[in-house]
Amino acid sequence: MNKDLKPKDKKKFLEKLASEIKSCQKCGLCKTATQAVPGDGHYNADIMFIGEAPGFYEDRDGIPFVGRAGKLLDFLLHQINLARKDIYITNIVKHRPPENRDPTEAEILACQPFLKKQIEIIQPKVIATLGRYAMNYFLPNAKISASHGVEVIMPNYVLYPLYHPAAALRNGTVKKTLILDFLRLPEIVKKVESGEIEAKDQNNENNAQYELLK
Ligand code: URA
Repeated sequence: MNKDLKPKDKKKFLEKLASEIKSCQKCGLCKTATQAVPGDGHYNADIMFIGEAPGFYEDRDGIPFVGRAGKLLDFLLHQINLARKDIYITNIVKHRPPENRDPTEAEILACQPFLKKQIEIIQPKVIATLGRYAMNYFLPNAKISASHGVEVIMPNYVLYPLYHPAAALRNGTVKKTLILDFLRLPEIVKKVESGEIEAKDQNNENNAQYELLK
C-alpha cells in the first residue's frame, strides 16, 4: 500500500480503474448487465461504503445506490452532515446480477481485484459495509445481527458493518438500528484521526482474512 499517494494521483488512478471496470469481461455478468457500475464519490474520502451489487436503477444509470435504498442512504448521510460528494461508494460486484440474484463466488472473485485497488487508492479511514454480503466479504464468519455497529480494526482501516438500507426499508426495527449505527460514523472517523483507534493491529485475527483478500 502506497501511503504517499497524492490526491490528484488518487483521482487519476481511480478514473483509470473505472475505465478498466467498464470494459471488464472476466465473468458472465457483463453479458446480461446494461453497463458496469464502478463507484461514485470522492477519491480522497474518509469513509468508503460498500454494498453487494448494482440493482435495476444502478444498472440503468451506471451509479451505485440510486434506487430506494440509495435515497435512504442519502438521508442518513444528511443526518451526519455529509453528502455523496464527501464519501465514496461502490459494490463488491460491479455488474448487476440477472434478476438481482446473489453474486456467485466466481463472480465475486473475478471482481475482487477492482475493490482491492479502489481501497488501495482511496485509503479510507473507515470502510462501512452495507448488509450481510459485503460484511462477509471481509469477515466470512460474522453474523450481521451481532456485528452491526461494531468497529473492527483492520491493518489499514477500520471496518464498520452496517445493515443494508434495503433491509431497513423492509423492517422498522432494522431501520432504527441502522440509523443509530450510522450516527456513530463521525465519532469513529474522529477516533481514527486522533489515533485513539489505530487502524493497524498486527495481532488482530482479522489480518489473516485481509491477507486472503490481497
Ligand atoms: N444495493 C446494493 O447493494 N448496491 C447498490 O448499488 C444498490 C442496491
